[in-house]
Amino acid sequence: MCGIVGYVGKQKASAILVEGLKRLEYRGYDSAGIALLENNDIEVMKKTGRVQNVAELIYERDMGSQIGISHTRWATHGEVNDSNAHPHMSWNGKLALVHNGVIENYEGLRRFLEGEGVEFLSETDTEVFANLIAYHYDKEEEGNSVDRLLAAVRHSTTLVEGTYGIAVICTDCPNDIIGARKGSPLCLGVGNGENMIASDVSAFVGRTQNVVYLDDGQIVHISEDDFSISTIGRESVDPVINQIDWKIEQAELGHFTHYMEKEIFEQPTALENSMRGRFSDDDSTAKFGGLNLDPVQWRQIDRILFCACGTTWHACLTAEYLIEKYARIPVEVEYASEFRYRNAPLDKNTLVFVISQSGETLDTLEALREAKRKGYIVLGITNGVGSSIARETDGGIYQHAGPEIGVASTKAFTSQILLSGMLALHLGRMRDLSFGDGREMVAAFRSLPGLVSTVLDQADKIKEIAEKYADFSDFLFLGRQSMFPIALEGALKLKEISYIHAEGYPAGEMKHGPIALISEECPSVILSPHGDTLKKVISNIQETRARKGSVIAITSAGKDFPQDTADEIIHIPQAHDCIMPILATIPLQLLAYYIAVKRGCDVDKPRNLAKSVTVE
Ligand code: F6R
Repeated sequence: MCGIVGYVGKQKASAILVEGLKRLEYRGYDSAGIALLENNDIEVMKKTGRVQNVAELIYERDMGSQIGISHTRWATHGEVNDSNAHPHMSWNGKLALVHNGVIENYEGLRRFLEGEGVEFLSETDTEVFANLIAYHYDKEEEGNSVDRLLAAVRHSTTLVEGTYGIAVICTDCPNDIIGARKGSPLCLGVGNGENMIASDVSAFVGRTQNVVYLDDGQIVHISEDDFSISTIGRESVDPVINQIDWKIEQAELGHFTHYMEKEIFEQPTALENSMRGRFSDDDSTAKFGGLNLDPVQWRQIDRILFCACGTTWHACLTAEYLIEKYARIPVEVEYASEFRYRNAPLDKNTLVFVISQSGETLDTLEALREAKRKGYIVLGITNGVGSSIARETDGGIYQHAGPEIGVASTKAFTSQILLSGMLALHLGRMRDLSFGDGREMVAAFRSLPGLVSTVLDQADKIKEIAEKYADFSDFLFLGRQSMFPIALEGALKLKEISYIHAEGYPAGEMKHGPIALISEECPSVILSPHGDTLKKVISNIQETRARKGSVIAITSAGKDFPQDTADEIIHIPQAHDCIMPILATIPLQLLAYYIAVKRGCDVDKPRNLAKSVTVE
């Protein structure tokens, strides 16, 4: 949610910053901008719309500057227009700043600065931050310009309330960028004769694999050959340089048209990577090196609480079914944004789990902090190596699903469900699940990449169905038991990328209200797996069709699901229950994707959305 990039080195900064911004565009695409420092002067170029818009301006100017900062915006304060775009210059032209986050007390600070004669050009909280630093810079008397700038940033960060990841340049400091973070991510890419700061490693992974993840309350100073980190309280910090565990090629589109399409088709590999090395030698249970509870602690757990947002919340709901079924531990699932503000009673044997693809979602991070404040052990599942959530949890599981760039989550979701199922196995084997049951589950997990590939092989058929239904404006998604969260996810995927109104419901609930929506104008996607509830689901399909609603059925029931049961039938393999939610997800992702493409929507950058939501 807003991406920032800063570069200082020997190369032309503009091209590197544009490339970095393009890689961060998933974080917001309302406007983009860049500030370049050359000959003690700062040149700002910014424009509403995509990074490409501003890139054209930048390339026209062809500046040779080797230092600059840049930003891609997801608007919070102030409408989407050129003047509200970042970077923001201070009123006196001394410094430029880019910001990811929200300054909550900006109105009071603005009034104070206006009283001091400071003039404002935009409505943003960020311009207030820029002017605040410039104001204090003018007042600092000790040290050289860099010391004064550092002191001014330090002082200003003690005055602002809210969240920020910032990068600042100053006309008096021609070789230096200062960054700071609180609540919004910021990391440092340590290069050879160049250094970068950014909201996310994808901005610089093409230039260096060395990364330092900053903590909240830290300030970083980078120059071409050097960097240093300190706290707001002036303590110096020993940096830990980590290696980024993926390569830039993994974030390229290749022959795909969209990242979402690429990531859907990458699922066999992502699932393989998520489970790699995580089964016992006898293939009867799952093991996780990062879950550092001892066996006694594991056995004492009598309740698990999951917190997450959006698609990932749907993964948690699926985890509830899997863990309750296989481990017999009661599970609750909370929206992270709700958990934080309600005083949920937990008891001492409750284990809290947060799940987050990015590891940076602020609602989830705050839920984690709230649970820790109350003294609970909090574990995490995240795809974001080195992310805030990874660092603040007491232990956890990395998804290793590879970078997910499409704003609509796909491969991260199925990987989260896989890991939840493996967690259910791990917990179940410490309780009632037998050796034989465990081996059956491991065999099912191992078969998953191959089975997912067979569903992906039906992409052309699903595309045909999608094109036939692309003009409807309402859809229902129905499923029972572990298919209910998958129905919710199918509805969310469709609405977020194609702007079609869609609702997910437990199929049995249909008759209690949603059935009123059914007509020729509202098709239903009904998840109809083999097993105990198949007959009931078939009844739901008949009830729908009796009211002239078309039905797209997704079934693993083979001959128990006759051809004339639904208007369209997508077959998925009949497999162990623990992997059925994943197999049922794939056709829904493809359906949503092809419908959105047919409607001409910008699949990877849906309107109003951004990935990695770092505001509350
Ligand atoms: C929807 C989607 C979002 C995220 C949600 C949580 O396709 O991607 O709903 O699932 O914003 O994000 P993470 O998992 O990064 O915490």
